[in-house]
Amino acid sequence: MKLTIALLPGDGIGPEVIDQAVKVCDAVANKFNHEINWNKALTGAAAIDAVGDPYPEETHEICSTSDAVLFGAIGDPKYDNDPSAKVRPEQGLLRMRKKLGLFANVRPTFTFPSLIDKSPLKRERIEGTDLVFLRELTGGIYFGKRGREDNGDTAYDTCTYTRAEITRLARKGFELAMKRSGKLCCVDKANVLESSRLWRETVQAMEKEYPEVNVSYEFVDAVAMRLVQWPNDYDVLITENLFGDILTDEASVISGSMGLMPSASLGESIGLYEPIHGSYPQAAGKDIANPLATVLSAAMMFDDLDLSEEAAAIRDVVNASLAQGIVTEDLADGGTSYKTSEVGDWLAQNV
Ligand code: IPM
Ligand code: MG
Repeated sequence: MKLTIALLPGDGIGPEVIDQAVKVCDAVANKFNHEINWNKALTGAAAIDAVGDPYPEETHEICSTSDAVLFGAIGDPKYDNDPSAKVRPEQGLLRMRKKLGLFANVRPTFTFPSLIDKSPLKRERIEGTDLVFLRELTGGIYFGKRGREDNGDTAYDTCTYTRAEITRLARKGFELAMKRSGKLCCVDKANVLESSRLWRETVQAMEKEYPEVNVSYEFVDAVAMRLVQWPNDYDVLITENLFGDILTDEASVISGSMGLMPSASLGESIGLYEPIHGSYPQAAGKDIANPLATVLSAAMMFDDLDLSEEAAAIRDVVNASLAQGIVTEDLADGGTSYKTSEVGDWLAQNV
């Protein structure tokens, strides 16, 4: 099979971790007789520096004509402390999500048996944790009306959702729940917010289409607490954009390292695959970042391209590297650690 994949390394450690994913994907392609044509494009601060736009039209063209997009990370500290900056790397990410129609952000959290003691949570709480958030990604307060009034002394951001936006996200949640344990949790703040009441009403109306799925409704503050207390109570969780942003960072802690969790952003056609961690500027260029989240994101990509054996080959080799201690310093516990590029080489050789 011939695949065309858009490659967006982005900022910070993005290029380094993306390089490892490319090595591993090429090794998988070789093993299964595929040919991957990588189309590199600019995003984030790297794109601002080069062409003054964090998501240039040319990049959009490349993404929308590819079979999938593999993305590293964006963000640069030089923009973080400058509230007056006119263009920011994050604007590129939001525009990319919107223009590619990536409304469903799939963020799994699971534990690796060999790393269970890396988690700050007690072993007995997290053994067997395996849950997935479906975060709505192109609506809500991220894209609502915002502004200043009162000579700049009052600021507002609004959270707006339509029934159609909620339905399409919830449908993906119901479908995923059917493939998994049949448990779906709708996370909202329906005791306070009108938009949350529309979420609840919409999801409740869909329940009869999916009689096999057992749906619960929980307030976001309670989920924030129960997620780290009893993570094994959850399987598939659906939620709006901002709640999902916050809860998925919280959930990533369960696995023990930010450097491990992959993600997918899906729409009607194209999918974008990226590690959940950010650009980690302190580590950029040092060849120390953990590439596994990006490599596992590539596995999600193969799954969605209906190449599940290829995806399994990636997950197997990642598990083997963890079991054999071929890990970057974040997982080495002060013992022998390997460089980002060495982990990538090992994975590619052992696929
Ligand atoms: C994420 C990030 C982004 C978000 C930022 C970088 C805009 O935190 O992907 O979770 O808030 O969506
Ligand atoms: Mg976030």
